[in-house]
Amino acid sequence: MYLPFLFLLYLFNLANVCSSQSVLTQGSSLFVEKNDHLLSPNRLYTAGFHQIGQNAYCFAIWFTQPMLDGKHTLVWIANRDEPVNGKRSKFSLEKTGNLVLTDASQRFWTSNTKSNSPLQLQLLDSGNLVVTHVHNQSYIWQSFSFPTDTILPNQPFPRDTVLTSSRSLTNFSSGFYKLYFDNDNVIRLLYNRDGIASVYWPRPWLLSWQAGRFTYNTTRFASLDSKGLFLSSDSFTFNTSDFGETLQRRLTLDVDGNLRVYTLSQKRWVVSWQALSTTCAIHGVCGPNSLCTYHPETGRTCGCMHGYKAKNRSDSSFGCVPTFDFNKDSENYDFIKLPFVEFYGFDSQWSTRSSFKECMKACLDDSDCKAFQFSFDQSFGSFVCYIKLLLYNGFYKGTPFNTYLKLPKSDVLSYTDQKVVNESKLDCSTSVIEIKRPYDENSTNGSLKFMLWFSIILGGIEVFCFLFFYYITKKPSPTTTQTYLAIATGFKRFTYDEIVKASRSFRDEIGRGGGGIVYKGVLADNRVVAIKRLHEAIQGEAEFLAEMSTIGRINHRNLIDTYGYCAEGKHRILVYEYMENGSLAENLLGANQLDWRKRFEIAIGVAKGLAYLHEECLEWVLHCDVKPHNILLDADYNAKVADFGLSKLFHQDSTQDSAFSRIRGTRGYMAPEWLFNLPITSKVDVYSYGMVVLEMITPQNRLTRDQATDYSEQKRLVSWIREKVHEASESLVETQIMEILDPVMEEEFEKIEMKNLLRVALKCVEEDKDARPTMSEVVKMLLDSDKEL
Ligand SMILES: *[C@@H]1O[C@H](CO)[C@@H](O)[C@H](O)[C@H]1NC(C)=O
Ligand SMILES: *[C@@H]1O[C@H](CO)[C@@H](O)[C@H](O)[C@H]1NC(C)=O
Ligand SMILES: *[C@@H]1O[C@H](CO)[C@@H](O)[C@H](O)[C@H]1NC(C)=O
Ligand SMILES: *[C@@H]1O[C@H](CO)[C@@H](O)[C@H](O)[C@H]1NC(C)=O
Ligand SMILES: *[C@@H]1O[C@H](CO)[C@@H](O)[C@H](O)[C@H]1NC(C)=O
Ligand SMILES: *[C@@H]1O[C@H](CO)[C@@H](O)[C@H](O)[C@H]1NC(C)=O
Repeated sequence: MYLPFLFLLYLFNLANVCSSQSVLTQGSSLFVEKNDHLLSPNRLYTAGFHQIGQNAYCFAIWFTQPMLDGKHTLVWIANRDEPVNGKRSKFSLEKTGNLVLTDASQRFWTSNTKSNSPLQLQLLDSGNLVVTHVHNQSYIWQSFSFPTDTILPNQPFPRDTVLTSSRSLTNFSSGFYKLYFDNDNVIRLLYNRDGIASVYWPRPWLLSWQAGRFTYNTTRFASLDSKGLFLSSDSFTFNTSDFGETLQRRLTLDVDGNLRVYTLSQKRWVVSWQALSTTCAIHGVCGPNSLCTYHPETGRTCGCMHGYKAKNRSDSSFGCVPTFDFNKDSENYDFIKLPFVEFYGFDSQWSTRSSFKECMKACLDDSDCKAFQFSFDQSFGSFVCYIKLLLYNGFYKGTPFNTYLKLPKSDVLSYTDQKVVNESKLDCSTSVIEIKRPYDENSTNGSLKFMLWFSIILGGIEVFCFLFFYYITKKPSPTTTQTYLAIATGFKRFTYDEIVKASRSFRDEIGRGGGGIVYKGVLADNRVVAIKRLHEAIQGEAEFLAEMSTIGRINHRNLIDTYGYCAEGKHRILVYEYMENGSLAENLLGANQLDWRKRFEIAIGVAKGLAYLHEECLEWVLHCDVKPHNILLDADYNAKVADFGLSKLFHQDSTQDSAFSRIRGTRGYMAPEWLFNLPITSKVDVYSYGMVVLEMITPQNRLTRDQATDYSEQKRLVSWIREKVHEASESLVETQIMEILDPVMEEEFEKIEMKNLLRVALKCVEEDKDARPTMSEVVKMLLDSDKEL
């Protein structure tokens, strides 16, 4: 009778100790080191310090539940343009009633509020962070009045508020797109960068009433309700595609300038409405002199036109610059035709009466003319000539649009292959935000140390409680516990002593690779781990730490989970999850051979992992050494790619701008680009992937590492397989295919899937890198064969 009661009391106490608060009282603070946060009573939202870069933090509100990739979705940021230090920063409700964010003693943000009566800071169930009077609960400040790039259901969007997009997926600073009520009471989207401003929604060529907007309601108020109905006072309204109560939604002005409503579905945000369906129609996406192309599979890419080159190769929003000088005589210029292309805006003149010849001459005579557009316009019933001063907002619009680009005659002559786009590049920013604000180390006095220890102990108790409650409230599947554990403990820097202890002085060697030797170990918290000791040739600590910060943020079920690292003296060590079934290489050679289904799943898994590395735009990572030894298998034979993000660390002897100037990779899986000194792109991994898949389905003796020592051997093998597959498809019999397949799998494989896998693998090992698919295309092709069955 009395024991359960005690137990309950114990639980209750425990809950009190570790329950996260939703209220901060006057005169107290949330500290960055302690990971202090406020939790809304319904636990949906959390407010606290969010790490946005190396040692860089913002005070933010986010959805408590992480997404599938382990990341949190931010809904509000106090100091988006000025992150604070990871040490000695705090967010306080001062005695005077002012809310301030300080870094050491410097103020970075303040609410500018003041009151003589008692106040408190509260995070409400709606996601609104409010400063209220304790007695009557009336607000004196609320985060809902100062949105960043997101509004939540029932959050008002009144006059004079603005949503501003983030700069990029990794840089939360204010970007170039805004949502606001204009002077004519219409809600609009605007692009504004370096003095170039243009409205692109509603469609700029329509008058407001043509776009269905009402310009005379001066209320200027909009909001999204909890069912998914958006209403604006200019009579613009829509329902989300999943109209209905109880779902979690957010309306966000995205990095790419599109306004979207997202609905949470199984830890993933699904778009349930968007303002523009053609993402290339968003102004400024590619910067000046650049052409936007959209492909349903690869998304949007920006390219420079013939005669132009990228201004900044790592950030396409800077656009392109001409490779020639525009100040020559008009005789020196000619034009190339860009079919179906339109550049919106910046016409110095237009006329409905000129012929093509006259239009061309007008552009030649005007030294500021960069191009002209000559297209048939139905509403005029004639051709219209536009003279373009600047080339912005360019994209393929279809008939009848045609643009004629002005170029020096020499460049027109070199325009032979009709390739409009000279170069295309990824729209990923690879920079990491880092704060190196100096502060006085010595002032870390006794009481601070005490606080630190206290918070560590408190943190420990909290983690314990968290896990404890998690266990008693849910019956977790093993994989989710893993994720939670990883999140609770985080990506860690280990000391060398810890590593020595965990690996029992590097006793249990489990593998040996190009980068170093791998040992098995057990961490203090009993996690079994793989410990990779990198060869000492590794570069300086700064590069290593930069790579670690990249690796620490990478999180995907087909990529090995890195728990932490050690950088002490000359030691460079990585700690990652231990994989029960070892590497694919061992499994292919071992006695206990993989069946067809497992091999097919492994092929898909590896493709997904690589696609994430290449194209999720989080950070552009080339693997450069894809091979069966780097593909590890967990207890359920799920494939995880290991050793990514390290390629930059070895071989840093780059002579010029290219960080990849030396041959990398392993013979037998190496793309021809390495040998012939061609530019290295993500397609080198696609090639290696193709070789791995071929190795996986053909008998082992053919493609082991020792045999395929040189490239011609590799090539001979591929062409032999290609020939057999070709013969098989010609004669419609499968015998030729059987010849190339590993007999272990015989008779158990699905023919359609097998043929598809072979076809995809052969595409991946094309000599010409442009003929190879991207990794995300590979995933799609493999999954499609799944569906056909
Ligand atoms: C709430 O109380 C404070 C002082 O205690 C007062 O200044 C404020 O006007 C009150 N607000 C409302 C809505 O009554
Ligand atoms: C103006 O918009 C507000 C808010 O949407 C609405 O309540 C009001 O009825 C509108 N007024 C007119 C005259 O349409
Ligand atoms: C949204 O859905 C509601 C309920 O079905 C309907 O009454 C309303 O007219 C719809 N509004 C729009 C803009 O489609
Ligand atoms: C294409 O781009 C490259 C690389 O930026 C540049 O060097 C080259 O001049 C451009 N070629 C032409 C014909 O514009
Ligand atoms: C290119 O852009 C990145 C990110 O904005 C920046 O860090 C880098 O300095 C730029 N490079 C050049 C050459 O302008
Ligand atoms: C983030 O964006 C801001 C604003 O464009 C820029 O000033 C800052 O340098 C960027 N940070 C990085 C690390 O690229």
